[in-house]
Amino acid sequence: MRTRKRVYPRFDFPAAWRSAGMRIVATVCLLSCLTAARVSGRDESSVVRADGGMVVSASQHASQAGCDVLRDGGNAVDAAVAVALALAVTWPEAGNLGGGGFMLIRPPDGRQPMCVDYRETAPAAATPDMYAPDESTLTHRAVGVPGTVRGLALAHARYGRLPWKRLVQPAEDLARQGFPVDRHLAESINGVLRRSAELAKTKRGAGQESRPEPPLPDRDRFAELRRVFAPADGQRWLAGQRLVQPELAETLRRLAAGGPDAFYGGLTAQLIEDEMRRGGGLITRADLADYEARLRNPIRGSYRDCEILGPPPPSSGGIALVQTLNILETFKLRSEARYSTRNLHLIAETLRRVFRDRALHLGDPDFVEIPSHLTEKEYARQLAETIRVDQATPSLDLAEEFHIADESSQTTHFSVIDGDGLAVANTYTLEASWGSRIVVTGAGFVLNNEMGDFNWVPATTDRAGRIGTPPNVIAPRKRMLSSMTPTIVTREGRVLLITGSPGGRTIISTVLQMVLNVVEFQMDLPTAVAAPRQHHGWFPDRFDLEQSQDPRYGDASLRLRELGHQIRSVGSQGSAHSIWVDPDGGDYLGVADHRLGGAAVGIARRK
Ligand code: DON
Repeated sequence: MRTRKRVYPRFDFPAAWRSAGMRIVATVCLLSCLTAARVSGRDESSVVRADGGMVVSASQHASQAGCDVLRDGGNAVDAAVAVALALAVTWPEAGNLGGGGFMLIRPPDGRQPMCVDYRETAPAAATPDMYAPDESTLTHRAVGVPGTVRGLALAHARYGRLPWKRLVQPAEDLARQGFPVDRHLAESINGVLRRSAELAKTKRGAGQESRPEPPLPDRDRFAELRRVFAPADGQRWLAGQRLVQPELAETLRRLAAGGPDAFYGGLTAQLIEDEMRRGGGLITRADLADYEARLRNPIRGSYRDCEILGPPPPSSGGIALVQTLNILETFKLRSEARYSTRNLHLIAETLRRVFRDRALHLGDPDFVEIPSHLTEKEYARQLAETIRVDQATPSLDLAEEFHIADESSQTTHFSVIDGDGLAVANTYTLEASWGSRIVVTGAGFVLNNEMGDFNWVPATTDRAGRIGTPPNVIAPRKRMLSSMTPTIVTREGRVLLITGSPGGRTIISTVLQMVLNVVEFQMDLPTAVAAPRQHHGWFPDRFDLEQSQDPRYGDASLRLRELGHQIRSVGSQGSAHSIWVDPDGGDYLGVADHRLGGAAVGIARRK
């Protein structure tokens, strides 16, 4: 069932607008093949060079699982499926079966690139005004119909080479036999258990006194999370201790044997429906049976001599990235240093304009018509003309009263390439870190809280509240707008860069800067990944600067304040696990972003 399509007119700029113008941690990296070589650099252990295939993800176990698939004759899509399933076991705060995402695939042989859209959907019983303005997103009602399993199965059916079972096997083994948690995972589990226990101490949850009574007290909503992820000694997880997930192993066993229908039907679907009934959620077996992943054409753009491929709506990422690059291309950024006042200012001014268009125009393309001018060079030139180089434009001058709430940064991106050059960029998420924190009782996996990515309160858009613009208002079976931006950059028909990041709306800014760092500023990949990042999301009207020891960056915040920017210093932005392909010789360089940990694993070409 679809709602009627709406066409949004091209926006006329108001006159006011026209006139206004690490934390550093070492990443442990293991090589699956002896001939793949570590490369020296700032963070030696996270950088791997190899010529036969490369996987870079948030988890060493998952990257290894992907490389094992490549070594067994699988292609990059096979490997990506295995990595995604393994991450659901080894990085459960974001890797998932119960969430959704986007997989961008670029074949090397002239076949069209494709994006698998496996974004979650609103359940059939969802309504535009189903949420109270300040309702918690940590409830069963905040869960969207999961898309990950259908999406991975679709990618495999269309592009894969190895049997499905072979791709599920590593995840099942990791869940059943367990694996040693690393420091990042230990901290993550300790954190979510602590936060959930704190909520459980109050009847309604801390800070939620004015919110509607949830159908289950928090202590019951999160009881399964606490049971499944409880540390053996009942105290704290420490790096090196083993996490075993027997219920998840059984879910994966059924998935291996029965394919995606054994997730969207059968016992797993029943367990999801039971969980929803218990907690007052909306998802039914019918919602699960109806869920479809989609193959969509990627957004294509260009920057200098490179082609940019990004995900189409319902992700805003591809359009926003291309629009941003189009605007910045009109300025000669490289005539100044990467962190010059002017360049940072131009990035902020560009992002605030692009995020404004995102809020006004973007949503699920099956429900709203997306204007085509957003990615056109001419439109970018018009926007560029509204930017003053000597003065920041207050975001309020660009629109009426709007406010965009903060977002967390737990999603996960991985990059894969095989020996034939088939490239995969995959970003998927549970939305918040650990999603809704609701674990399906008896099935062992976490459910998303992706409904929070819809505009919760239609027509209510204010500085103190949230966005209520029509394109992203809830409707049954609609996909909520995303910022996930798995991206592939090519030059002269060959892959140059595979990248992406977590970080909510900051994803777009992070990916933008990965492309600029490599293409415009010609940084090598380790430098490009390590470089401090910035973000402006239109609202809040604030330019976030990632902290950095880089002396060239040093007084950037002072200089930018003089131009009228409101500056916030942030500890860390995103985690761009990326692959660069050496144009001379075609070697792959994999770099795991040190910000959240992770691992690049490469294999050597068969002789
Ligand atoms: O789809 C989106 O844009 C968000 N749900 C992604 C959430 C996210 O990245 C949170 N933290 N990284």
